[in-house]
Amino acid sequence: MAEDTTVLLEEKRVFKPNYKIVEEAHIKNWEAELEKGKNIEKYWAEKAKELEWFQKWDKVLDDSNKPFYKWFTNGKINMTYNAVDRWIHTSKRNQVAILYVNERGDEEKLTYYELYRQVNKMANALKSLGIKKGDVVALYMPMCPEAIITMLACAKIGAPHTVIYSGLSVGALVERVNDAKAKIIVTADGTYRRGKIIELKKIVDEAILRCPTVQTTVILEHTGIPIELSDISGKEVLFDSIIEGEDDKCEPEIMDSEDPLFILYTSGTTGKPKGVVHTTGGYMVGVSTTTKLVFDIHDDDIFWCTADIGWITGHSYIVYGPLLVGTTTVVYEGAPDYPDPGVWWKIIEEHGITKFYTAPTAIRHLMRFGDKYPRLYDLSTLKILGSVGEPINPEAWIWYYKNIGREKCPIMDTWWQTETGMHLISPLPVTPLKPGSVTKPLPGIEAEIVDKNGKPVPPGKGGHLVIKTPWPAMLRTLYKDEKRYIETYWENIPGGVYTTGDMARMDEDGYIWIQGRSDDVLNIAGHRIGTAEVESAFVSHPAVAEAAVIGKSDPVKGEVIKAFLILKKGYSLNTALIGDLKKHVRHELGPVAVIGEMVQVDKLPKTRSGKIMRRILRAKEEGLELGDTSTLEE
Ligand code: WTA
Repeated sequence: MAEDTTVLLEEKRVFKPNYKIVEEAHIKNWEAELEKGKNIEKYWAEKAKELEWFQKWDKVLDDSNKPFYKWFTNGKINMTYNAVDRWIHTSKRNQVAILYVNERGDEEKLTYYELYRQVNKMANALKSLGIKKGDVVALYMPMCPEAIITMLACAKIGAPHTVIYSGLSVGALVERVNDAKAKIIVTADGTYRRGKIIELKKIVDEAILRCPTVQTTVILEHTGIPIELSDISGKEVLFDSIIEGEDDKCEPEIMDSEDPLFILYTSGTTGKPKGVVHTTGGYMVGVSTTTKLVFDIHDDDIFWCTADIGWITGHSYIVYGPLLVGTTTVVYEGAPDYPDPGVWWKIIEEHGITKFYTAPTAIRHLMRFGDKYPRLYDLSTLKILGSVGEPINPEAWIWYYKNIGREKCPIMDTWWQTETGMHLISPLPVTPLKPGSVTKPLPGIEAEIVDKNGKPVPPGKGGHLVIKTPWPAMLRTLYKDEKRYIETYWENIPGGVYTTGDMARMDEDGYIWIQGRSDDVLNIAGHRIGTAEVESAFVSHPAVAEAAVIGKSDPVKGEVIKAFLILKKGYSLNTALIGDLKKHVRHELGPVAVIGEMVQVDKLPKTRSGKIMRRILRAKEEGLELGDTSTLEE
């Protein structure tokens, strides 16, 4: 077998942090912090002390019943008390907690004190509707302050929430609400998206007929479109009317560290979504620490994560992480390119955003419009950029670095999952960066790249990314499905390690390069090659805007590459370009990247969070059933 092809892809440039960032950073010495993190229990206990506990824990980590790990056992704490209440007795009382902006240009600011009062009213309203500790509340809401108020109100009274992304539709909503046995759905009349209003209540009206556990639907009048309240299926009440008259004080529920905080559904390899369960104490320690250290949060920061609260990134880095560290979190409702592709850069200028966190798919999309739009705005307040969700190809990284960060902001390429709750592999602002690498596991985290028998693979070789030791914000189980929890995460690879389902490789410096999901890895004539790497090679060609790659069976090589390409304006996939692209990819990846077929397309099937659904392309290719398409964009 020839040399592993992945080595050929390695991006050689190293970007050193600028001195100002180092001067300011909480962690100035990366290596020393990594060293400290080796004593896992001591490290996380230290971090846990930054939160206010009603009662201190007995044990940092209880591993007596693997893989059902417990963190900070017997500790008593409340999320909302820490994220909101404790700030109102400090100078943060009148600081903006939530800065809401939408694509129409509307704005709303809530200080920590205002947020505190609103959350208390909603918490009391939920109690009045009969919600008790342990009852599940479903949210199907726009990106707006009331959504966050509802999440925090649930956490205050100990009612786990399950947030369902507002882009999912009836089927997905019914399945999740029923699996969680939610008693209440909180929704809105609609949400703004690309100049239109998506009518959420209509979707709930249809779903609710198949959701027998739901007793009450709460509707927020958000866009002002006319809605009809009905009594056909359970009680319908307006958000404003239930909080009106409620007391603006509410005692926090004393939660055990291991009491559930939320359930969040995510897709697995089978059709049925997995209900990932996160608990209270460990999750709080994990997300507050990573928010503070990865984005180096200080008092004057304005933090903007462009995700949606319907995903884990929204839970951990729009809502809980930023509020736990007492910063200002930006909540944006709308599309990244409406009314024009400069809308995000305009918001950065207008509000003086200092830390900006988005996804490679958004970068690649906005890159297509060139540097015209970012050049129109003053982005000089930015200090740190972030990336999450998929491997960022070096071209997108460099574009982001140059045009948005103006070559002075380090990019935190954060690797993590719904299941991990918090960043696990990511640089810190002082880390020397290589475009496309997520660098090393964070302090307190141990990861390794192994073969399917759990044996570490040498540097340069691709393998399975596993996490070797538990971490505070880890999922505790899959809701009502312990068997699937054990099988999916703990039995795939021997050695008692957590299987991430991702493939990765490590370079000579110990830097990790994520290759993509294990089911998205191609095998061409016995050579392992990540679809993400092939796609990265394609998009580094000037004619290609976006690419999705799947394996196509080949009688001789097992698999060859089939590429679906969105070309930039003015290009078409003629013989000359086909020849040129083949040469280019071969040049980037080596001769093993055998291209069987290329097709030009206008669109790629994506999840609503922007991940390419190669499974759909494969199924179509092989004439198979499409399987679960509930998360497909359209
Ligand atoms: C992928 C999102 C490369 C990975 C937080 C993981 C990434 C899956 C990165 C989890 C990254 C996430 N580089 N790949 N920085 N971050 N991924 O559950 O395949 O929506 O397993 O959580 O996204 O997706 P999820």
